[in-house]
Amino acid sequence: MTEAAPLSAPVFRLIGEIADARGQRAFVIGGYVRDFYLHRPCTDIDVVVTGSGIEIARELGQRLRTNVSVFKNFGTAMLHADGMEVEFVGARRESYRADSRKPIVEDGTLEDDQKRRDFTINALAWSLNAADFGTLVDPFGGMDDLERCIIRTPCDPDTTFSDDPLRMIRGIRFATQLGFDIEPETFDAIRRNRERIRIVSAERIVTELHKIMASPRPSIGFELLDLTGLLELIFPELHRLKGVDTIGKHAHKDNFVHTLKVLDNVAAKSDDLWLRWAALLHDIAKPATKAYDPHTGWTFHGHEVLGSKMVPAIFRRLKMPLNEKMKFVQKMVFLHLRPIILAEECVTDSAVRRLLFEAGDDIESLMTLCEADITSGIDAKVKRYMQNFALVRQKMQEIEEKDRIRNFQPPISGELIMETYGLPPCREVGEIKAAIKEAILDGMIGNDYDQAYALMEKLAAERGLKKR
Ligand code: CTP
Repeated sequence: MTEAAPLSAPVFRLIGEIADARGQRAFVIGGYVRDFYLHRPCTDIDVVVTGSGIEIARELGQRLRTNVSVFKNFGTAMLHADGMEVEFVGARRESYRADSRKPIVEDGTLEDDQKRRDFTINALAWSLNAADFGTLVDPFGGMDDLERCIIRTPCDPDTTFSDDPLRMIRGIRFATQLGFDIEPETFDAIRRNRERIRIVSAERIVTELHKIMASPRPSIGFELLDLTGLLELIFPELHRLKGVDTIGKHAHKDNFVHTLKVLDNVAAKSDDLWLRWAALLHDIAKPATKAYDPHTGWTFHGHEVLGSKMVPAIFRRLKMPLNEKMKFVQKMVFLHLRPIILAEECVTDSAVRRLLFEAGDDIESLMTLCEADITSGIDAKVKRYMQNFALVRQKMQEIEEKDRIRNFQPPISGELIMETYGLPPCREVGEIKAAIKEAILDGMIGNDYDQAYALMEKLAAERGLKKR
């Protein structure tokens, strides 16, 4: 290989120089090499060296007058150079003694180290030593796999996955991100070893799930998780969506298939990770609310309410944030039927006003989710829904311009009512405040101080309250 642009930053030559002077070999390995061939941006550099990585990092740090973070327990060191994060590690190999099943980890060659990595496409390395600077070292056919779009382990997949079972999900994540296929032997090994995922922490698993979710077509990842048997172990609620029940002529759709379609539809429209999570979870309570009515067929009454209640437990178990991101997902799940009900029925001003009020600034996200939720195979039906949605959107715009409901704060506060009538916090104050809000949402009065004040006076008089 000629000296390619990816190694043109001065730091690469410098690492090679330091390694040469110390009689060590140094290579760039892993994601940076892979991503160069895939034309993906990457600023995380992994450098593997024979012998100590920490010592080379320290010397480089001195030469560049920059700070080096050393992680002695892991034998790694990290520094920033030329706008990149460069991590150093010593090449390792594992050997087994007859009297113990526990491997001894000791210094190894580059190839020993490459063999211990997760996938062939992640085991590609470029030399940094002056004598062969920029040469690709690829003993496990990583370039072939990159060209053929294949995820494959460098050695026996059972060994690779038992070294770190998270790699099973990583493989699925790479397949999803890159649109690659998992080679059959590697795939079979994931199925075989799936139970081992139980020893992996939720934090590590969810990092991979987020990367699957952020991919162009996240459904690929969830289908693969399902086919390998991992889904049932890491996400039983999602697995339960699978299947179709039929009684007589009534069959409901497969909610797993539907959910993945909605997820891909949202992903095609929005990069918002949390809206994608809302799509994944929007029907999560369908199995729990499923009922059969001989006249109307299958029903899932209240699945949006129960679904939004299930969100915190799922987030907690997956170690996802229990903050406003979770609340957003809950809100989307809770409201996901509202625009469609609106579009099905007659689109009244007051229904639109209420929806704007409840969704607030998240109204656009809700509309995106709702439009994505229409997965019917019948073109005429889809067309009709989309037309109705266009009407809802138009009405929303008109009402928002007129009434500014979206960030609606009732013009009369509880404090003002208490002050005007000399009241302590009590039931009447709450009632008057709520009645004013309802009157505005129903369009009885405008979203306007004077009209709201007049209504307050009327409501207070009805209750026999006197101004102080
Ligand atoms: N690696 C591995 N097994 C793991 C994690 C990582 O063998 N469980 C190796 C792979 O060679 C990988 C490198 O360590 O290329 C760096 O890992 P990481 O930074 O997690 O992933 P990247 O491959 O860089 O990909 P991404 O940045 O997309 O996570």
